[in-house]
Amino acid sequence: MTADADIIDGLRGAGLVGEGDVVLEPLTGGVSCDVWKVETPSGPIVVKRPLEQLRVAAEWHAPIERGQSEVRWLRRARGVDAHMAPEVLAELPGYGFAMRFLPDCPVWKDELMAGRVDVDFAAAVGRGVAAVHAATANNSADRDAFPNDAMFRALRVDPFLIYVAEHDAELAPVLRALADDLSSRKIALVHGDVSPKNILVSSDGPVFLDAECAVYGDPAFDVAFCTTHLLLKAVWSGDARLNEAAAALVAAYRSAVDWEDVDGLLLRAGKLTAALLLARVEGKSPAPYLTDPEHKRIVRDQARTLIVAPSPIDVLVANWKRNLV
Ligand SMILES: Nc1ncnc2c1ncn2[C@@H]1O[C@H](COP(=O)(O)OP(=O)(O)OP(=O)(O)O)[C@@H](O)[C@H]1O
Ligand SMILES: [Mg+2]
Repeated sequence: MTADADIIDGLRGAGLVGEGDVVLEPLTGGVSCDVWKVETPSGPIVVKRPLEQLRVAAEWHAPIERGQSEVRWLRRARGVDAHMAPEVLAELPGYGFAMRFLPDCPVWKDELMAGRVDVDFAAAVGRGVAAVHAATANNSADRDAFPNDAMFRALRVDPFLIYVAEHDAELAPVLRALADDLSSRKIALVHGDVSPKNILVSSDGPVFLDAECAVYGDPAFDVAFCTTHLLLKAVWSGDARLNEAAAALVAAYRSAVDWEDVDGLLLRAGKLTAALLLARVEGKSPAPYLTDPEHKRIVRDQARTLIVAPSPIDVLVANWKRNLV
């Protein structure tokens, strides 16, 4: 039986499709997973199944059990706010799963790249990320449900922080210390891939997808990861509204932090943002749109300075330059 036949059998077993022909229509994206849209008698669904080998230039393996982490995160987030994630309909063979398809919801990255920058939406993203952190902070049940440290190391710590450290002797000690600190903190449920390409714009606010890297860890990572994307796009487009969007995201996030000292959290997020910015120009997973050497230089110069002399993330965002004059 082919893998696809396996999936179709799983959909039949779950009662999602009947005995007739089932068409798996590939959706865009799919660096780490097969993602299909499937028409069913009760409306369109999305079927997602993790790949053993990611579709990126550098070799990059990750355990396929990450599909299960994603299902758990989606369910947990819906428990916090049902608008925040798609409903999971069934778990399928090979750590695949089916979820409801959300119609008419553009991907936030596409909106941003087309110059449609909604600062209020960015604030809603910050609030959404913080809501999951607040609901899960210092919670032993969540901690036990997401013991995914090995996965987070393989998909986040190693490729983004350690890979750069291995190629940069000067910054290596700081980046390694940052990696150790990130790995040691067990504070709240982290999504792990809060990127505009994993957020749908719905009329009820942001919908978060793609939680394969979910781990019980340091919430600073999520706010740093998403802010990094906005700051990179600000350099790429030169559009000041992207700086404003990043500031709004951080401000909304900040005002929801009630589980720990906010200053400590913002400083950790600032350090991580600096490291992630550098990783997106020199790491294993470079931002695909940042190809102009001048853009890369603007990001690299600021990121290197910030790694050596860190600022809290709100200060970092306020000082971020889209161009160096
Ligand atoms: N429930 C859904 N409703 C509507 N569209 C969806 C849904 N789930 C996924 N998509 C679409 O499929 C794309 C890929 O989904 P997702 O990010 O989960 O997969 P992925 O393989 O991890 O992708 P990538 O590696 O490119 O980030 C999303 O960007 C979105 O356009
Ligand atoms: Mg994705």
